[in-house]
Amino acid sequence: MKYDFDSILDRRGHDALAVEMIPIPGAKVADGVSRIPMWVADMSFPTAPAVTEAVRKRLEHPCFGYYMPTDEYWDSIIGWQRRRNGVEDLTRDEIGYENGVLGCLSTVIAAFTMPGESVLFLSPVYVGFQGTMEKTGRRVVRSELVKDSRGIYRMDFADMDRKIKENNIRLAVFCSPHNPCGRVWSREEIRGAMDVFEKNNCIVFSDEIWSDLVLDGHRHVPTQSVSDYAKHHCIACYAPSKTFSLAGLIGSYHIIRDAGLKKTVDDKAAETGYNHMNVLSMHALTGAYSQEGEEWLEELLKVLSRNIHYACDYIAAHFPGVSVTVPEGTYMLFLDCEEYCRNKGRDMDELLRAGIASGVIWQDGRTFGGTHTIRMNLAVPYSMLQDAFDRLDSSVF
Ligand SMILES: Cc1ncc(COP(=O)(O)O)c(C=O)c1O
Repeated sequence: MKYDFDSILDRRGHDALAVEMIPIPGAKVADGVSRIPMWVADMSFPTAPAVTEAVRKRLEHPCFGYYMPTDEYWDSIIGWQRRRNGVEDLTRDEIGYENGVLGCLSTVIAAFTMPGESVLFLSPVYVGFQGTMEKTGRRVVRSELVKDSRGIYRMDFADMDRKIKENNIRLAVFCSPHNPCGRVWSREEIRGAMDVFEKNNCIVFSDEIWSDLVLDGHRHVPTQSVSDYAKHHCIACYAPSKTFSLAGLIGSYHIIRDAGLKKTVDDKAAETGYNHMNVLSMHALTGAYSQEGEEWLEELLKVLSRNIHYACDYIAAHFPGVSVTVPEGTYMLFLDCEEYCRNKGRDMDELLRAGIASGVIWQDGRTFGGTHTIRMNLAVPYSMLQDAFDRLDSSVF
């Protein structure tokens, strides 16, 4: 490997939410025990050197006045989308900066729905979506993903259709690849969902923030590419933040292929006056989306795949009653502990607290969906991952 994914970064004292905060109320790490951050979605790896280098170069010029997005910024996104996602005909006019994917979701909600209206989600669902809905006074209607006989999460198109009709839904939120279930939806699956949305005239917010992190031969299919309806009714959101651990710099973007739809979203965002890029995040993106950034990503994907298989194999061998679906993308693992808790007579709150006490900072999956779920972030150095699972084995399960 050319890049370092093995060294353990000490993130303490460097503003890292992942190590400074414990996400389970009342839970405490036992005295003298080190913390292994395995919850919020950022990685415990240093970002790509191409990112640090691009930001460092910009810092050398000691003036940070008003600035203009460079040609390189737009061309980097166009090139990245062509190389990674096979989007051949993207133009600058179809791209827009977003102050976070959730910021874009707030704008879209405001543009296409009224307070009190319902929005469709596929559940389990990224907890941030739920928070955005609550803050904007919209109702969440969940269509549950269902596990097939092989334990793979599938969409229930009939249920989605029924819920949209029953609740007069005009906006649907789609997450591809899916957090927390780790599905990389196939073209046929996305087409099936878009057909339901088309039948019901829904606008679709397609969160593709995880699109670079597809593993083991899976390929990301941009939602807008599956049909003409999708191309003209879908607001797609991307960012280098999950891929390169840049969430702290803020710097997402949307792709909207339909000029009318784009104008509606841009006009709504402009009402707040807050949707402006930061010059350092612009340079971080151009560094990330460079050839060197891409080489780093290819190595990262191998590291993540190894971690995911290690964790899934370990659980199958050591934690009877805990089930997982092997993620096809993302670096999140969604544990279902229902059978385990039933067999052992254990309670989820106590189980979650025991994990935290052992220093494994994991996340209550029930806020995403399910009654006995835990979400774990596997983007940590391999030795840390092994340490985490050994701790879970000896002190928790
Ligand atoms: C599916 C999904 N969407 C959005 C976000 C947050 O994106 P942003 O920080 O750009 O608002 C996350 C963060 O984990 C996520 O998993």
